[in-house]
Amino acid sequence: MAVRLSDDFLEQIRDRNDIESVISNYVELKRRGRNLTGLCPFHNEKTPSFTVYPETSSYYCFGCHVGGDVITFIRNIENLDYIDAVKFLADRSGIKMPDENFDDTVHEKRKSTYEMNRAAAKFFHETLLSEKGKKQLQYFLNRGLTKNDITRFGLGAAPDDWHELTNYLVSHGFKKDDLVRADLIKLSEKNGKKNYYDNFRNRAIFPVIDLRGNVVAFGGRVLDDSKPKYINTGDTPVYKKGKELFALNLAKNGNNGKLILCEGYMDVIALHKYGFTNAIAGLGTALTPEQVTLISRYAEEVYLCYDSDEAGQKAVKAALSLFSKTGVKVKVIMLSGGKDPDEILKKQGGQDKFKTLIEESLNAVEYYLHITKAKYNLDTADGKKNYLNDASRILARVGAIERDVYASKLSEELGVDKNSILTTVSYNTNRENRAVKREAFKTAQKEEREVQKAFDPERAKYLRAAKAEDIILISLLNNTAFYNKLKADLTSDLFITPLNKKILQLLTGRIDEGLSVEISLLAPHLTSDEMNVVAKLFADTSMVSNTIEECVDCINVLKTEKEKQEKKSPSSMDDQAFLDFFASLKKSEDDKK
Ligand code: UTP
Ligand code: MN
Repeated sequence: MAVRLSDDFLEQIRDRNDIESVISNYVELKRRGRNLTGLCPFHNEKTPSFTVYPETSSYYCFGCHVGGDVITFIRNIENLDYIDAVKFLADRSGIKMPDENFDDTVHEKRKSTYEMNRAAAKFFHETLLSEKGKKQLQYFLNRGLTKNDITRFGLGAAPDDWHELTNYLVSHGFKKDDLVRADLIKLSEKNGKKNYYDNFRNRAIFPVIDLRGNVVAFGGRVLDDSKPKYINTGDTPVYKKGKELFALNLAKNGNNGKLILCEGYMDVIALHKYGFTNAIAGLGTALTPEQVTLISRYAEEVYLCYDSDEAGQKAVKAALSLFSKTGVKVKVIMLSGGKDPDEILKKQGGQDKFKTLIEESLNAVEYYLHITKAKYNLDTADGKKNYLNDASRILARVGAIERDVYASKLSEELGVDKNSILTTVSYNTNRENRAVKREAFKTAQKEEREVQKAFDPERAKYLRAAKAEDIILISLLNNTAFYNKLKADLTSDLFITPLNKKILQLLTGRIDEGLSVEISLLAPHLTSDEMNVVAKLFADTSMVSNTIEECVDCINVLKTEKEKQEKKSPSSMDDQAFLDFFASLKKSEDDKK
């Protein structure tokens, strides 16, 4: 990253944006000794593994292995690039940005993509209100929308033409290849001839707007029954499928900590129209953990409002499972008498009907009992027995109080003794508990391995060396003065794992120049994966004793590991080394005899 911000400036940003108070705006932190902990905002968890270290101005999550300084935090939580995160903190604390021209192409690409999207949204919206968007306007009106709804959501029309949008955007100074990157137009090449054409044609347009009011993507619906029903913006510098939620920009305000999550654009618009302005929707993907995390930032309670068809009910189960890992309370709205909220609002009593549906919504246990019950005929003895059996498995997964409540209900409903229900449940509890624990253990192990691999594939191969390297790096971060005493031995080719080697070079380079190695000053030199590793080093200080002796021990470990590694690959040896190696093999063979 070629950003030229001076150490002085970065120190000022750090000093005026105390990490504890910045993070407190997003995470409820509790003091634990010198540090603070809370529920990680970057992954879903029920017990806090997110830790803030005021002494080093850093944070690290032991659950999802991300960390950094205050700038990294803002960058990730606000989804900004590096420079915008710095600007955000500068604004917050009344610091003026230096006037230099930043050489930051990522920042430029994102900025221009936002501009292109905004221009396109304006074009689509104006087209909808013009002669060329007559069909689309009629479509929206037929579906019961008013001009007011159209403005609120910034709806638009893509004209029935291959080049109108392209021409409009080019005439506004945008370049075709940049527009392709924003997925607004497509490029096909035939026989060396380039042909650019509009991605959205003859469709009704729904813009997707992020939490800061930027247009990040579009969905375009056909006006009839042809396929595909929707075309959506693919991945661009400012948009990644599965990371945004439609209408969260509107729903996040004044929602009383409650959100209604539905499937489609039209469902959301219909709900808002009937006064449920806390409705949002996923965007053509199954709900992702990222979306769940985002929701948990704006809601304590979420109502799932998925279509009543099979696909919708499958999505409900997946969503229940994702939310069960968070502190967010989930309720399922059962859409009886219509396939989706849009249809129900229109065909049935509108607002009142839907209010009742919300009141009657089911929690996870009730939902599972409900769908299980529907599978059996409770007028027959067999039906009852099977239902009870399935139900007791569901209850085996919940806490004692809930279990008691639902056992009472079941007992009344089926005329079966409550105690015999509870006995079956506790029989199932042990089985279920073991299964749940096994599953949790397996996923945790798998995640850990994947994280290790993603950050540094070499690390897993040389774990002993990697640990020794960690201790040396942590000791250096804490005591830069150690470096002078270790310098003779501590060359970067002593290090085996590539990422630690890079970090060592960065640290020693800075120490040689008399520069500080604080995390906020290292940040501009690190990619985000590297930053996560460095933040872990800052967090792991308790594993070192901070003595020269320990560092020397670690250096010796590395020397031995290095020798072992070299022995393993004879091809990398010179002739003499190879002969020695060979002799040593022979010797050990002789010893055995
Ligand atoms: P639906 O098919 O339920 O569409 O898909 P809808 O938005 O409710 O539209 P109407 O009411 O039938 O006109 C739900 C969501 O799934 C995504 C869209 O985000 C849509 O809003 N989707 C659906 C796609 O991305 N592509 C498709 O082809 C279909
Ligand atoms: Mn739908």
